[in-house]
Amino acid sequence: MLAAALVLGSLAGSALAFLTPVDGMDLFARNAQVSSGCSTNGPASCHNTTAQSNLCCFESPGGLVLQVQFWDTDPSTGPSDSWTIHGLWPDNCDGTFEEDCDPSRDYTDISGLLTAQGASDTLSFMEEFWVSDDESSEDFWEHEWSTHGTCYSTLEPSCLPAGSPKGAEAVAFFNTVVGLFQTLPTYDWLASAGITPSATKTYTLSEITNAIQSAHGFTPSLDCDDDTTIFQISYYFNLKGSVIDGEFDPINMAEQGSCASEGLKYLPKSGSSTRRS
Ligand SMILES: *[C@@H]1O[C@H](CO)[C@@H](O)[C@H](O)[C@H]1NC(C)=O
Repeated sequence: MLAAALVLGSLAGSALAFLTPVDGMDLFARNAQVSSGCSTNGPASCHNTTAQSNLCCFESPGGLVLQVQFWDTDPSTGPSDSWTIHGLWPDNCDGTFEEDCDPSRDYTDISGLLTAQGASDTLSFMEEFWVSDDESSEDFWEHEWSTHGTCYSTLEPSCLPAGSPKGAEAVAFFNTVVGLFQTLPTYDWLASAGITPSATKTYTLSEITNAIQSAHGFTPSLDCDDDTTIFQISYYFNLKGSVIDGEFDPINMAEQGSCASEGLKYLPKSGSSTRRS
């Protein structure tokens, strides 16, 4: 710190005038969280009793929001002691859903976008916890954004503050998904109920959902390969305000997943690398 101050202090006035704004912009980018300006006091999505006109502050029609997580074991992805992010999907309030809502915003180079717009922390987290078992992380992120992210009414570019850079709504999306995922530690919740990965043990569906319900307060849905090998969990929410900075209110699952009611396998991941962050 002292050395840096000394170096700066020794620079000529003109150089300092150049350096100061660059440094200032960098700081701004790191700290800037886009703000929606939306209140979270209005009705939750899917719970309005009258038509809402400002869809920048009320998620519609996709007001049933699923935070979906993977447990990938074939091949394994991510830390052996954490589920990973699949996505954040907007379902309509009746369980139907829209996809690929705005091809003009199918951004590429998500890593570059996040880095340029001050979300490198989000990016490093994604590199560890938002990974695919059959494509590159970059392709997976692009897919999740273009397929699902473009469908959020509260993430329309016109909802963002004037002068926001191109793609700022996608940056907000990735920040929100990571932030929400961090509040849903499936591995830890199951482990604290004695439910840990095992090559031999089986669990009933209600053992698993009850464990999550005890920790989280609401029931998730579980998806299985071949009815019994657990690979995915979905947490359901309604939203007050905007995806950018609104309140995600947890609710019980709206739809049963594909797992059978018993004989469920929660297989260990291969490799032993545990989570860094
Ligand atoms: C809730 O608001 C949306 C968006 O304006 C509207 O389409 C829907 O009909 C509203 N629901 C009710 C019950 O008024």
